Amino acid sequence: MTISRRTFVTTGAAAAASLALGERAGAEPVLARVGERAARVPLASRPVVIASGNGLRGVARAYDMITRQGADTLDAIIAGVNIQELDPEDQSVGLGGLPNADGVVQLDASCMHGPTKRAGAVACLEGIATPSLVAKAVMDYTNHVLLVGEGAKKFALGMGFTEQNLLTEKSRKDWLRWKACLNPSDNWLDAPGMPRAPARTSQRDSAPELGVNFTTGTINMNAVNAAGDISSVTTTSGLSWKIPGRVGDSPIVGAGQYCDNTVGAAGSTGRGESCIKTCGAFLIVEFMRQGLSPEQACLKTIERVIATTEPRLLDGRGRPTFSLQFYAVAKDGRFGAAALYEGGSFAVADSQGARMVPFAFMFRQSEKPQAAVSCSA
Ligand code: GLY
Repeated sequence: MTISRRTFVTTGAAAAASLALGERAGAEPVLARVGERAARVPLASRPVVIASGNGLRGVARAYDMITRQGADTLDAIIAGVNIQELDPEDQSVGLGGLPNADGVVQLDASCMHGPTKRAGAVACLEGIATPSLVAKAVMDYTNHVLLVGEGAKKFALGMGFTEQNLLTEKSRKDWLRWKACLNPSDNWLDAPGMPRAPARTSQRDSAPELGVNFTTGTINMNAVNAAGDISSVTTTSGLSWKIPGRVGDSPIVGAGQYCDNTVGAAGSTGRGESCIKTCGAFLIVEFMRQGLSPEQACLKTIERVIATTEPRLLDGRGRPTFSLQFYAVAKDGRFGAAALYEGGSFAVADSQGARMVPFAFMFRQSEKPQAAVSCSA
């Protein structure tokens, strides 16, 4: 049975959200509100390329390569994300990405090529600005899927990639400011039985005056060509100030991105730990396989994220105190994306041109917990 978008949104999804949230006092799923936007169902057309909001230039490039040059979908979207990876002003990925707690830029990326059913990934890669291309090289030239750390770098250098210092002066200064006011977003939990450190909290409060930027990012991009072949890629510098060696969802096939050439592709940006626990991108593709639209599949996966979130990351009303966004395309060219909280948009390029489209969302911005961490890795 095909579920209409409005039916799902106003009944099925709300009921499912109630199951996910209703046990927590005061939790009010607002999926029905998404139904208000049901008229905005995108018409399916191929080719189509979608990405996180920082990928507007990238989707335009990828779409152009697919339509004008007949480029392979994975080559096209990797060329798309390379724009941000090589842009020193973009502190979310590649060159200029925000560093870890030691001031070292460690990059993660993964990709999947639908037609040939292959995948490649790298994690904790240092000194190479384009981890998406190294991930593709892992896919193309090895019998493996994931290389990490020193091994990944040695592999990349052996493949001819050029080593460079990825820490720009701007990112170094932001790291120094973070060092100067170590705060609760340093990724360490308080030890059980130990008092919280008030100095750290108050120092954090003064951080905005210091211009500290706790927000970092990721770029996910997915494409379907005219023949229905599909690819996906996600690349990131991960959570800023992360514990060295921390790996998020981006290089995890099935979490940060996933592609099945018979169904579609999906990916994520935001708190990677929460996506990993739900196998986010894989789950979205599986929901699409079951008949949900890309947007419905993203929303239903967000419900799963909420249902699997530990209490310390929920406010008193059961709402997550972090950000997470999902993106999806179906084989027939339909696309959609959803976020935990209202606001923001994602990038799309199809026959109507390259543009930004608003996210579907689970909760209104006004309902976002005050304590919500601004991190959107
Ligand atoms: N979503 C990217 C990360 O958590 O590293």
